[in-house]
Amino acid sequence: RFKAVIFDLDGVITDTAHYHFLAWQRMAERQGVRFDHAFNEQLKGIDRMGSLELILAAAGRQYTAPEKLALADSKNLHYQELITGMTAADLLPGAVAALDAVRAAGLRIGLASVSKNAFTVLDRLGIRAKFDYVVDAALIARGKPDPEIFLKAASELGVAPADCLGVEDAVAGVAAIKAAGMFALGIGLPQVLTQADRVIAGLDQFDLAMLQRLPVSLQN
Ligand code: BG6
Ligand code: MG
Repeated sequence: RFKAVIFDLDGVITDTAHYHFLAWQRMAERQGVRFDHAFNEQLKGIDRMGSLELILAAAGRQYTAPEKLALADSKNLHYQELITGMTAADLLPGAVAALDAVRAAGLRIGLASVSKNAFTVLDRLGIRAKFDYVVDAALIARGKPDPEIFLKAASELGVAPADCLGVEDAVAGVAAIKAAGMFALGIGLPQVLTQADRVIAGLDQFDLAMLQRLPVSLQN
């Protein structure tokens, strides 16, 4: 069955999704764009410039490339302020247990986050060493829902995509896992993550033994 598990970071292992929300919200509202949780849902898993484009499309005016970069930088500085105090206490329930269960079962462990802050967040949480391979978002040309980041993780782990389980909280992330030809475990609500093969509320419900018993015909 599965030979590797590839995790998303934000919203799966830690609740940075909330900090991204706060930082985008302040930036958006300064541009006169109303930004609520429904809008934020569309941005989950989308890279920084892609998210910015979606927000500015609602602003009703054109922005130059330097203006866009300045807005993206200011959002990122605010986000970095918000995550300065992060520690292992910010790990979501069940996250470490899930990583340890995958390790104990002898599977490979990857991280596929499009966040350029992923290494910082992993270090603050104290879990970087738990991964066999962490994709460097700076090396990824196409963000989720493109499968590139999950395929890169699988190839670096030396595991065929069909033998990988991907774990994601975002609609775009689940789409990326499916486009990569992997089994998608959604974290969140089944009515939101409709493309996922299975959905659980959080990693505290992660049951590797059960997933390993799923018939291969159920996947991909
Ligand atoms: C994703 C988040 O993991 O990373 C998005 O779900 C975020 O909300 C994206 O915009 C990019 O993050 P960063 O840290 O590179 O701005
Ligand atoms: Mg996420």
